[in-house]
Amino acid sequence: MDAGIANKKRKLEDTNGNDGQAEGGSHFVKEGPNQENHTSLMFGIKEEIGSLARTLNLFEQSKVNLSHIESRPSRRSNDAYEFLVTCDKGPEDLSDVIGQLKGVSSYVHLLSRTHSTNSVLTEFSDSGTKPTAEIPWFPRRIKDLDKFANQILSYGAELDSDHPGFTDPVYRARRKEFADIAFNYKYGQTIPRVKYTEAEIKTWGTIFDKLTELYPTHACREFNHIFPLLIENCGYRKDNIPQLEDISNFMKDCTGFSLRPVAGLLSSRDFLAGLAFRVFHSTQYIRHGSKPMYTPEPDVCHELLGHVPLFADPVFAQFSQEIGLASLGAPDSYIEKLATCYWFTVEFGLCRQDGEEKAYGAGLLSSFGELQYCLTDQPEKKPFEPAVTAETKYPITKFQPTYFVSESFEDAKEKMRSYAATIPRPFSVRYDPYTQSVVVLDKKEQLEEMIHAMQGDLNILKDALQKVS
Ligand SMILES: [Fe+2]
Repeated sequence: MDAGIANKKRKLEDTNGNDGQAEGGSHFVKEGPNQENHTSLMFGIKEEIGSLARTLNLFEQSKVNLSHIESRPSRRSNDAYEFLVTCDKGPEDLSDVIGQLKGVSSYVHLLSRTHSTNSVLTEFSDSGTKPTAEIPWFPRRIKDLDKFANQILSYGAELDSDHPGFTDPVYRARRKEFADIAFNYKYGQTIPRVKYTEAEIKTWGTIFDKLTELYPTHACREFNHIFPLLIENCGYRKDNIPQLEDISNFMKDCTGFSLRPVAGLLSSRDFLAGLAFRVFHSTQYIRHGSKPMYTPEPDVCHELLGHVPLFADPVFAQFSQEIGLASLGAPDSYIEKLATCYWFTVEFGLCRQDGEEKAYGAGLLSSFGELQYCLTDQPEKKPFEPAVTAETKYPITKFQPTYFVSESFEDAKEKMRSYAATIPRPFSVRYDPYTQSVVVLDKKEQLEEMIHAMQGDLNILKDALQKVS
């Protein structure tokens, strides 16, 4: 794990709530203009003696430093390995080394999101295709999310040296099992069930016990409405770690949201794009048992206790999808702003209910310490206003000094929708739930078709109003 990526990972620590160490979780690697001097490349090479050394030598000869390197078996070929490297140069300075890489690799991906005029992911094929698209690529159909598995910016089995499980070979092997499940997952498949060990269940139980003490008084009304349903339907219990597949099915029934296992960190653009399809990329592994109240990255406790309940709420689900839809094809600078809005709402949002502040952010609802702290007078509280929130800096290793308070999810959703309209895009997007696809609206005929479709709904509404009245 390179420092550039690692320092963007949120440190999730939750001891007794008085050390200011944060629990929560960013599921993505932040991107934006500050990433100008780093480029990630992915390439596949045959499993032969000396092949990696020869490949790395190309970077050395071109005087390109690598700040990060990791490997995994290639999904494209049984006798090949795939490498992800991060270079200390921008994409425009890498044309020589990419050209040489193409000569020794079966494929080369440039994972560059730094130039708004370039496509998000450009594959350098044998024909030497260069980026030409003005608008960053984005998924149009839900199965397009399968492509993200190839674009993860760190593999979940790779641990930082300060990770509690770094020196534990059993834990590392276990993490690889989870990463492999996610890496090989395809849209439409059943999420593989995991038999969690007794030790893993004990870790879950410790966290479950502590947090459920606080929910009745600290969590928002919607969370407390849904949580008992998860106990009833999905096996949320102290002595059981619920299965992603069961939860995903429950969420689909409630709001159409679903879970998708993820092998590592996605880019913020990719992560937000999942929300446009009502898909939440979820981890499946659990933190290391030596520190049950600490994890340096999102884990199954954070996802299942923090995120899942509210994705089963219809208005919150719609709010989350608004952020996702706004991100599709947006310029890089706006991806950063939207990711910041996501941070201060879906991860660390507060809302006002019956005159009291309550927590709805997953980073709060999965943290015994910060869930108590956020409702005290210590941190600053501001009304949620996307244009202001999007520009607010935040720490990633400490409790938040500032929280944004929404009046309601409905209000937050409308504000996000208005904010999204200010994003410079030459088109609008609409999600079609029947085909689970995103429709790009940039032609007059499409709008006429949309009006025609809406007319049907208006007729139903008119009929229903007459019957109700
Ligand atoms: Fe999270």
